[in-house]
Amino acid sequence: MSRGVAIVSGAAQGLGRAFAERLADEGYRVVGFDIKDEVTSLEDGLVADVSKREDVECVVARASALGEITCLVNNAGTWRSTLVDSSWEQALADWDFIMDTNVKGVLMLSRAVVPFMQRGSGGHIINVSTYYVLPAKSRGTNNPETDLYNASKWALNGFTDAWAKSLRKDDIRVNGMCMGAVDTAMLRGLFPDNELPSGFADSVMQSPDIAQQMMDIIDSGRTGENFGAWVGEPITIGEKPRLHRRITG
Ligand SMILES: NC(=O)c1ccc[n+]([C@@H]2O[C@H](COP(=O)([O-])OP(=O)(O)OC[C@H]3O[C@@H](n4cnc5c(N)ncnc54)[C@H](O)[C@@H]3O)[C@@H](O)[C@H]2O)c1
Repeated sequence: MSRGVAIVSGAAQGLGRAFAERLADEGYRVVGFDIKDEVTSLEDGLVADVSKREDVECVVARASALGEITCLVNNAGTWRSTLVDSSWEQALADWDFIMDTNVKGVLMLSRAVVPFMQRGSGGHIINVSTYYVLPAKSRGTNNPETDLYNASKWALNGFTDAWAKSLRKDDIRVNGMCMGAVDTAMLRGLFPDNELPSGFADSVMQSPDIAQQMMDIIDSGRTGENFGAWVGEPITIGEKPRLHRRITG
């Protein structure tokens, strides 16, 4: 049974690829796009940059021509070490590099998709964030060189919270996924020679397990929540909070 069309940003590798593959297995027609052309190995893979409005509008137009858009996974994200005592020039270049993709990209892609979901039968928006925005469970969170990346993901809390409320009337559910370390190129890039330290490599989470959590969120029909996933703990969606609460960690 077709579940409509799903759009996944940053789908060439890592979590985005796992999300795209899982949604396809579940019966969605998936339009995955990425700035890397490896994405063209997906059935409906497109090369596009989420930080460019014309690219975003082109992706959404292509997706809407395939059927009713019912799912958007705002996955594309980028990371760079941004030390607070770096030069102003570096800091402002880092701001544009990180915020244009991680925040403005989410804003633009969601704004482009929402009118289609409103005209159709609603849908799901998943904002891929990080456990940095949740209360810390270990000393490993909020590394000092991740201030801008961290700030970009906190900004998504504002989108998730506000859109969940304003789009509920249209049956559009909006949630955040806030995972810890998952074995992807982004994570490996933090370590020398892209090698995960022994011990850590065995415990780190895997993208298909996070994709399972994404399906559980979609199938739950819940909205306006941040769902965490922590290394060493079962990956679940947990009980629904009894009262709506602002998702500020
Ligand atoms: N891997 C982790 O441990 C982890 C933890 C928490 C959150 N996340 C988040 O998960 C998401 C996916 O991360 P990942 O680990 O798979 O990273 P990744 O670097 O392996 O994959 C990200 C993909 O996004 C693409 N991308 C980057 N900028 C883009 C742009 N402007 N337009 C289109 N595509 C673009 C990249 O080319 C890449 O294919 C990110 O938002 C990241 O912040 C990852």
